[in-house]
Amino acid sequence: MNGGMERSLESTAYLTAQGYVRDKAAIFHRQWFCAGREEDMPLPGDHKVLDVAGESVIVVRGKDQVLHAHYNVCRHRGARICDAANDARWGVTLDAGVVGKTMIRCPYHGWSYALDGHLLAAPQLQDTPGFDKSKFALHPVGVETWGGFVFLNLSPETAPDFAAGLADPSRRLANYPLADLVTAKTIRYELKANWKLILENYNECYHCPGVHPELTAIVPAFRERGGIDLDWEAGIPHREGAFTYTWDGTTSRAPFPGLSAEEKVRHKGELIYPNLMLSVSCDHAAAFVLWPEAADRTVIECRFLFHPDEVAKPDFDPADAVDFWDLVNRQDWAVCERVQSGIAARVHSHGYYAPIEDLSLDIRRYIEDCGEV
Ligand code: FES
Ligand SMILES: [Fe+2]
Repeated sequence: MNGGMERSLESTAYLTAQGYVRDKAAIFHRQWFCAGREEDMPLPGDHKVLDVAGESVIVVRGKDQVLHAHYNVCRHRGARICDAANDARWGVTLDAGVVGKTMIRCPYHGWSYALDGHLLAAPQLQDTPGFDKSKFALHPVGVETWGGFVFLNLSPETAPDFAAGLADPSRRLANYPLADLVTAKTIRYELKANWKLILENYNECYHCPGVHPELTAIVPAFRERGGIDLDWEAGIPHREGAFTYTWDGTTSRAPFPGLSAEEKVRHKGELIYPNLMLSVSCDHAAAFVLWPEAADRTVIECRFLFHPDEVAKPDFDPADAVDFWDLVNRQDWAVCERVQSGIAARVHSHGYYAPIEDLSLDIRRYIEDCGEV
């Protein structure tokens, strides 16, 4: 191949409805998928209704404090159980969903389920001979947690080993108290771009000198040789005197307890396939959860996580990190959208990865590993 250039995925993989269907079948409906933070559901009965690439899922914390997840569909005749927006559209209020923090109730014929999904009661059927409630539990969705993040798997019976998939990031981030951190700010971005373009962009720093002048002023390593020499194992150093991602590279916030001397002045980043991009500094983390909605649409929930001791201080203000990140993010989203519109050109069938973009090839390898290509 010309100068070590490798072909990227075919443009259709980013553009077409068929490409998105393949992504759903091979990845979102099979692999572990980040779905937010545990801190959003601290108490029994706390729940969320999430759209995982078109599949509605109820995530609820049980009486035993364990998180459970179920497909949002009744085992009787298939009504969607939680759908307040639908009721609002009709101006009605149906007695449904997670009621009394103790059960999940279908609005249609009143079947009720425990928070762990087993069928509690089916009106009029209780005494029907041969009716076996144990056969009508809600369809389960796999749930795991790591570092305070919640992960779901829509095919729990064939799900890959969760811990094994996170072994490398767990080792690299072992000193960071991720599970203890709390969200001080969330920004929701709506991108007209395929989710894979966003991951590919996150995975290379070839674009950093031109797209991120403010960031590369703090982290000069990002503009040296296209980022090919970056050591993500040990972390990326900042410029002299800088140690975090803020406008001037400094902060009055304390470093996380437990960090090594190097980690107090370096930056680490992880891409946890398929949809969590995690960047950690000594005093905060930026977590990007991607929610693919269509071939050309992705919502990104960007959370800024801090240590609770810092958040509790009366003068706590995350703006130095949040505003800096928001600029860098919008620079990234702007180029991702340019790629999405550019690759639709009739003359473009695929692009190239330069040798210094080797990590970008991971998306191709990842997709191949998932059996898609
Ligand atoms: S469809 Fe849910 S109780 Fe009938
Ligand atoms: Fe970038």
